[in-house]
Amino acid sequence: MTVEQSDDTLRAPETIVIAIDGPAGAGKSTVGRALAARLELEYLDTGAMYRAMTFAALRRGVVEGDFDEVAAMAPTVDIDIDHDRVVVDGVDATVDIRGREVTEAVSQIAANPGVRAVLVERQREWVGRHGGGVVEGRDIGSVVFPDANLKLYITASPRVRAERRVREIGGNVDEVEASIIERDRRDSSRDHSPLTEADDAVVVDTTGLSIDGVIEHILRLLP
Ligand code: DC
Repeated sequence: MTVEQSDDTLRAPETIVIAIDGPAGAGKSTVGRALAARLELEYLDTGAMYRAMTFAALRRGVVEGDFDEVAAMAPTVDIDIDHDRVVVDGVDATVDIRGREVTEAVSQIAANPGVRAVLVERQREWVGRHGGGVVEGRDIGSVVFPDANLKLYITASPRVRAERRVREIGGNVDEVEASIIERDRRDSSRDHSPLTEADDAVVVDTTGLSIDGVIEHILRLLP
């Protein structure tokens, strides 16, 4: 430190963290990406990390229901997320992590406390490296960043979430709605970090709202 330096130059720039939680298909990703662009922050989809772990388990032949084996595997999996590109153990898994096989197995991998401990640390490290960010998941405001500047819990009715999913990837709306309800039940009833809104989260119900309307509403909430 030199005598010429003022206190201001020594202060680290403020790290802004916006936590977005909520059930699948509620519009978290769309809102998170738009918000990150508007605020010039990086965006992290933590669901992609759980999907990447699941991809690794399937590839390595680790049975997703074998608690100890999955927990032992977790620290050894190399996950590199750069914008939308996801590379797992050196293999581009961007497309496969959204496929049926991973989608069916991911809840079980995400319920493993060994996996969660490893990924929570990596999420914190990612945010530290990027100087903040808009971070989306299920436990971001409650567990990963309890001191986030803003916590949002984004939700929508199961029917609306099913209709959005069908528009994106096709399928039968009744079946998709039933699988959404089942996945919500699994994500909210697991023992470790179940999907739940943080006490100080702002609940945003996107049923019937346009994306622009949601973003404007959220920007007004920023401290
Ligand atoms: O958001 P998504 O559908 O890509 O998430 C995939 C799975 O990972 C889903 O079952 C919920 C789980 N998940 C989690 O448990 N915690 C997070 N922070 C993010 C996702």
